[in-house]
Amino acid sequence: MDISTVRKSFGATEVLKGVSLSVPPGGVTVIVGPSGSGKSTLLRTINHLEKVDGGYITIDGRLVGYQVRGTKLHELREKDILQQRTDIGMVFQNFNLFPHLTALENVAEAPLVALRPGDPRRRTTAEVRARALELLDRVSLKDRADAYPRQLSGGQQQRVAIARALALDPKILLFDEPTSALDPELVNEVLDVIRELATSGTTLIIVTHEMGFARDVADTVVFMDQGQIVESGTPQDIFTNPREERTRSFFSKVIEPAFNI
Ligand SMILES: Nc1ncnc2c1ncn2[C@@H]1O[C@H](COP(=O)(O)OP(=O)(O)OP(=O)(O)O)[C@@H](O)[C@H]1O
Ligand SMILES: [Mg+2]
Repeated sequence: MDISTVRKSFGATEVLKGVSLSVPPGGVTVIVGPSGSGKSTLLRTINHLEKVDGGYITIDGRLVGYQVRGTKLHELREKDILQQRTDIGMVFQNFNLFPHLTALENVAEAPLVALRPGDPRRRTTAEVRARALELLDRVSLKDRADAYPRQLSGGQQQRVAIARALALDPKILLFDEPTSALDPELVNEVLDVIRELATSGTTLIIVTHEMGFARDVADTVVFMDQGQIVESGTPQDIFTNPREERTRSFFSKVIEPAFNI
């Protein structure tokens, strides 16, 4: 996936100031940075939940949210945007499960309703159900398939949300602070599931404040501040030898002295 000089403003405030980032397939990219630096906005442009004001994003060479006509970019029609979004899974801070559906139904929902006739990923209801159970098993929740979200802990709900995001075999999986709404004792069960995904070849882009986890799991760490990528590199580059003063100053505030790399 390529993000090329993406700009985005809300009113008079420019929150993405020409962001460029290349994400190799199968890689794990972790985005860190202070509150308000534009991390969530950047993630949301990747599945076109936000329109961009400038620049563009491509996945496998295909423009996200737009098509070229003549020399101009035109926004895709709503149904084409929805279709494109089936290639991109997203996991939110607050799980966003459907409250009236069981864990299994949450995972099965998109494969049953989001795919157009003729899409090669379409399956029969029985097949979708079997695959949803497999995915729940992958996040160690097969035995809770019939539970409703309100009957599950935050950590369990987030694991269902991850299984749901995997249900369409997305090309890219986006995580926006997947553990920041969880009680501390539930954080690890969710991070363990993401660690497992990280070794399985799915392309992951993760916004997190869990720096130890970022160091373990990332191929590339991207540090954002004030709508710009300040620097990116391996965890070693960014956490241990940052080039930029802004990066150093951020980590000196968020990483406790006991955190040894
Ligand atoms: N829909 C919106 N309307 C107006 N301003 C917005 C909107 N969404 C985000 N912003 C502003 O854009 C800036 C970047 O927000 P964003 O949520 O991307 O930051 P963030 O890096 O994800 O922060 P956090 O770590 O707190 O989640 C902030 O100043 C925010 O107030
Ligand atoms: Mg955010």
